[in-house]
Amino acid sequence: VSLAKPSQHQTVRVALGDRSYDIHIGAGLLDRADDLLKPLGFGNTGVIITDSNVGPLYAARLQAALARGGMETVVLTVPAGEVSKAFRQVERLIKRFPQLKLDRGSVVFALGGGVVGDLAGFVSAIYLRGLPFVQVPTSLLAQVDSSVGGKTGVNLPQGKNLVGAFHQPSLVLVDTATLKTLSQRELRAGFAEVLKHGAIYDARFFAWLEKNDKKVLKLDPAAMTHAVKRCCEIKADVVSQDERESGLRAILNFGHTIGHAMEALADYEGLLHGEAISMGMCCAAWLSVKVTGLKQADAKRIETLIKNSGLPTRIGGSLDLVQLGRAMRLDKKSRGGKLRFVLLSRLGKAVVSDAVTDNDIEEAVDVFR
Ligand SMILES: NC(=O)c1ccc[n+]([C@@H]2O[C@H](COP(=O)([O-])OP(=O)(O)OC[C@H]3O[C@@H](n4cnc5c(N)ncnc54)[C@H](O)[C@@H]3O)[C@@H](O)[C@H]2O)c1
Ligand SMILES: [Zn+2]
Repeated sequence: VSLAKPSQHQTVRVALGDRSYDIHIGAGLLDRADDLLKPLGFGNTGVIITDSNVGPLYAARLQAALARGGMETVVLTVPAGEVSKAFRQVERLIKRFPQLKLDRGSVVFALGGGVVGDLAGFVSAIYLRGLPFVQVPTSLLAQVDSSVGGKTGVNLPQGKNLVGAFHQPSLVLVDTATLKTLSQRELRAGFAEVLKHGAIYDARFFAWLEKNDKKVLKLDPAAMTHAVKRCCEIKADVVSQDERESGLRAILNFGHTIGHAMEALADYEGLLHGEAISMGMCCAAWLSVKVTGLKQADAKRIETLIKNSGLPTRIGGSLDLVQLGRAMRLDKKSRGGKLRFVLLSRLGKAVVSDAVTDNDIEEAVDVFR
């Protein structure tokens, strides 16, 4: 059978010494997994970890492509949703590995959104002290953010992402065509991370997004590929300078201090991560005007792009400020009780500040009620 001519695709390299890897981005890459994997020279067995939404849509295609390259895989499915990022699933999955006779040359594929990526990545980090692992992200958030950088892990009842490991993938395959089946709401939530990359690192990209947001959200192939590629380049750049988050990598948390606290207060129900950080970015931009000299007009541009892409900019009246403050301090990114806030000194340039007071935060939250 001769397959259709391979589609054009883009490649981004994550430079991390002997842990370096490529991110391939393009429509239809799922069917080319065999070609793209071949240069890595892995063994001929693997496991595809996916969730109950994504598996039925795409697992068979990935499995067929891998089979064409001589790799035999088994598909293991977890229930869709954040609840699956838990030890229960780690144990359930990993107990199958000896039965499947996986060895150090076997490959773990993470086919799905950030939940599957974090879970499968963690499983691959700890089985036999580390199996090679390939990210096949299918949500926009996973394609532009979670699949790159090697953070893997699961949640505890006490908090999100409290257990985990740094384990870089060997390859990231981003098939942008899979976004066609993602819900509008999830797509917009992923777009919040896209515009975050522009705000913290690249004013030109931010301006490009202001012009092309509708195209991206309508899944125009060229626009989507460009947006995903630029985000991956930015994330790759940041991660290769600070793999283990001792400095620069923190800038990726722009909007996340308030966003995470809001997610915690909402008990992770009814509020998507991208929606929470949208409101968080509005507050952080306002704080940047006050504390680090961001131009008012640029803070407004951030708010406007968020609003124009159908994301929330208003927190709503019911939020309890005392609880919010407490939740922010519990966030593991605060050190010694002092909040380190990611702010902007200008559009496209993030800085970490510890000069934000409780009073500033209350004011900011009040502005966006
Ligand atoms: N490791 C990191 O660096 C990092 C960074 C950011 C976020 N995260 C983690 O990522 C997770 C959130 O990821 P997410 O937003 O992708 O959530 P998710 O994995 O739950 O996916 C969202 C929903 O979309 C569905 N879905 C995914 N792709 C689809 C497709 N192509 N078609 C139809 N449905 C599809 C999923 O089944 C799920 O219901 C959180 O747990 C967060 O902590 C990790
Ligand atoms: Zn995020």
